[in-house]
Amino acid sequence: MKYYIETFGCQLNISDSERISKEIEKMGYKKTSIMNEADLIIINMCSIRQSAVNRVVGKAEKIKRLKSSKSILTGCILRKDIRIFRKSFNCIFSIRSLSRWESFLKKGKRIYYPNPLESEPDISYFKIEPLRENNFSALIPISSGCNNFCSYCVVPYTRGKEVSREPQDILKEVKNAVKNGTKEIWLLGQNVNSYSSEGVKFPEILRKVNEIKGNFWIRFTSPHPKYFSDDLIKTMKECEKITEYLNLPMQSGDNEILKKMNRPYTIEKYKKLVKKIRKAIPDIFLSTDIIVGFPSESEKNFENTLKILKEIKFGMAYISRYSKRKNTTAEKMKDDVLEKEKKKREKILTEALEKISLKNNREYVDKNLKVLVDKYRRGFSIGKDRHYRTVKFKSEQNFKGKFVKVKITKPLPWGLEGKIIKNGK
Ligand code: 5AD
Ligand code: SF4
Repeated sequence: MKYYIETFGCQLNISDSERISKEIEKMGYKKTSIMNEADLIIINMCSIRQSAVNRVVGKAEKIKRLKSSKSILTGCILRKDIRIFRKSFNCIFSIRSLSRWESFLKKGKRIYYPNPLESEPDISYFKIEPLRENNFSALIPISSGCNNFCSYCVVPYTRGKEVSREPQDILKEVKNAVKNGTKEIWLLGQNVNSYSSEGVKFPEILRKVNEIKGNFWIRFTSPHPKYFSDDLIKTMKECEKITEYLNLPMQSGDNEILKKMNRPYTIEKYKKLVKKIRKAIPDIFLSTDIIVGFPSESEKNFENTLKILKEIKFGMAYISRYSKRKNTTAEKMKDDVLEKEKKKREKILTEALEKISLKNNREYVDKNLKVLVDKYRRGFSIGKDRHYRTVKFKSEQNFKGKFVKVKITKPLPWGLEGKIIKNGK
C-alpha cells in the first residue's frame, strides 16, 4: 500500500505533513512520489490566497479521475469551501484531529472539520513524532492559530484560536532533532512571539533552546511587530545560536492602509522598532511581507510603501497581490485595485528590492561565509548563511545537509556566488 502527500503553503503546513506521514506509515503505507500509483492521496492545502485554493481545485480534478485511489484533504480549509471539494475527495479531515484519522478511516467517516473558531483549540497532534523530510533542518511548531484578525487574513478562520504548546514538549522535540544531527531549528507559529504557556514566554523558550548543546542555528517565523518586546531583542542579541535574520511582516508602508488592514501599529512605530533592533544587532538581515492592491490602496498609499521599502532597505520582501478572502472583514470592502495595477505595483516593489539586494550583496565579495547547504542542482550546491542569504557554489560533490565555508566571488541580484574553501560537517 502506497501513499502520496502533497503540501501547499507555509512551513507550518510542511511541518504538519511530516506528522501526517508518520501517522500514515504507522497504518502500514509506504511513501511514493508518483500520485498515479498511490492507494492513498493526501493533499495538505493552504487558503491564504485564492490562487492557492485554485491549485487544489486543479488537483481535485485529477484525483477525481483516478477512481481507484482513496483521498484525504486537510490543512487550512475554509468551511465555506468544503462543498467545493466534497465530491472530489473521499475524506476531509481537520489537521487537529490527526491522531483520530485511523479510526475515522476504519469507520468510513467522510468529513470531520469542526468550526475552528468555535471548537476548543486542540494541538495534541503536535505530540506525534514527525517523519522529517530531512535531518538537517527541523521545523518545530510552538503555537498554532491566530487571534489578530487582520482584515485580509483567512488564518483565524482556518487555523482557529491561538494556542501554545507546552515548553517541555518543544524542548524534547528540539533535543531529539539535535541528537539526530539537525543543523538548524525553525521555531514556528503564526504569531511566534506571542507564545505563552505555563508562564513561559517566547524569549525564555529561545534561551532554553539556545542552552541545548550542539552545533546548530536557531531561526523563527513569523513574529508580529505588536509583540516584539525589548526582552526578545535582548535575547536575540545574547543567544549565539540565534541567527541574524528576521522576517518582520510590515504589510503596508501607509498608515491609512495599515488601519484598514487592522494592523495595530503605525509606520512610525514600525520604523522605531526596526531602529531598535538594528541598534542591538547591527548586521541583522531584515525581510518583510507586503500586500499590494489592498482595497482602496491609491497611488499615493502605494508610493508610501515604496518609500519605506527603500528607506528601511529590506534585504528581502515577500510581496503578495491582495486576494479577497471569504469570512474576512475586508471581504466587504470593494476589491477596487485592478489586477493589472496590482501586478504593476508588485513589479515596481520587486525591482526596487532587487536594486537594494544587489547593492547589499556587493559588500560580501571576498568575505568567507558559513553556509548550510539545502539543495544540489545541476552541479551547484545552494544554501543559506546565518543571515538567510542564498549562497551558491560549483561542486561535484553534493553537500546537501552540510555546513561549509564559502569565499564569495560574485554578487547576484538575489544572492551570492562563491567557491568552497572548507568542507564542514
Ligand atoms: N491576500 C494577499 N496576501 C495575503 N497574505 C495574507 N492574506 C493575504 C491576502 N488575503 C500574505 C501576508 C502574510 C503572508 C503570509 O501572506 O503578507 O504575511
Ligand atoms: Fe493572518 Fe494577521 Fe494572524 Fe498573520 S497576524 S496569521 S496576517 S491574521
